[in-house]
Amino acid sequence: MSKRKAPQESLNEGITDFLVELANYEKNVNRAIHKYNAYRKAASAIAKYPHKIKSGEEAKKLDGVGAKIAEKIDEFLQTGKLRKLEKIRNDDTSSSINLLTRVTGIGPAAARKFFEEGVKTIEDLKKIEHKLNHHQQIGLKYFEEFEKRIPRAEMEKMETLIIGELKKIDPEYIGTICGSYRRGAASSGDIDILLTHPNYTSHTEKQPKLLRAVVDHLESIGFVTDTLSKGDTKFMGVCQLQQSDEDEEECLHRRIDIRLIPKDQYFCGVLYFTGSDIFNKNMRAHALEKGFTLNEYTIRPLGVTGVAGEPLFVDSERDIFEYIQYKFREPNVRSE
Ligand code: TTP
Ligand code: MG
Repeated sequence: MSKRKAPQESLNEGITDFLVELANYEKNVNRAIHKYNAYRKAASAIAKYPHKIKSGEEAKKLDGVGAKIAEKIDEFLQTGKLRKLEKIRNDDTSSSINLLTRVTGIGPAAARKFFEEGVKTIEDLKKIEHKLNHHQQIGLKYFEEFEKRIPRAEMEKMETLIIGELKKIDPEYIGTICGSYRRGAASSGDIDILLTHPNYTSHTEKQPKLLRAVVDHLESIGFVTDTLSKGDTKFMGVCQLQQSDEDEEECLHRRIDIRLIPKDQYFCGVLYFTGSDIFNKNMRAHALEKGFTLNEYTIRPLGVTGVAGEPLFVDSERDIFEYIQYKFREPNVRSE
């Protein structure tokens, strides 16, 4: 999961930018995830709106924009700024906690704890490096590099490399780069890979070897450079493309997650990790209306008592859309 979302480019960039900033503040400083979701939802609706918004009243017609956000939009349109945001930006606690949470491995709770111990900047963090866990140390080491988004051309190179190497280890591996890349984004925050193998289903034993073999191989060729965490089914780490001959500049270190998923759950996983998170929420809500419960593993029918039944057979993303009578959407139109 990447920490920094791509800025929303739209006619109403000023508005979407301040909404995203407020969203991050609610998540990181107040740990108010509902408010975070509300601001993100409003930002996403406004980013899609094809006209330049002239008033809060106009914005209020959009799904997800309520009275309070409309008021903020009016203030922003009339004064060019937002008092609430000015206050947050000038507040030492908020701005420090927000900054610390930009380091991977440091969540809102750890950020607050460090802040209370007097740690306010990246420089301060470097002084107490011994107090950081391994994940946070790597996050600090590559802080500047992880802040940079990955251009699509580089994502394409990494996809070619990863899929090629998978086939060398075992031609039966199936791998998909999901996340914003699969949605066609011009840049991505990280690399989200889903992996499966026909021999591995939710009915067979766990096969941590299938994941380990891939990680070990990607390490041996120098592509994976660091490990943040490594489990039986999920690897979180760092990778870097080798610089090519014609290319003088060294590639940056990038965040990479690899998940091993049983074959029968693969397409629910691919759907989920392709996102966007807002699209996922809407699709799940639709599934519930149709009497199904959908998550990153399975789709199951809900009985009259609301108890979920056995997982349905799924062999493609389309199958999932069909069960819940949702019109199929290609990944590049799944922003919400
Ligand atoms: P991310 O990598 O966080 O998002 P992204 O790939 O869409 O964007 P970025 O370019 O910034 O990396 O997560 C991958 C997908 O996982 C996301 O598109 C949808 C799903 N997801 C959720 O549905 N809910 C969540 O809370 C998170 C973190 C991810
Ligand atoms: Mg991503």
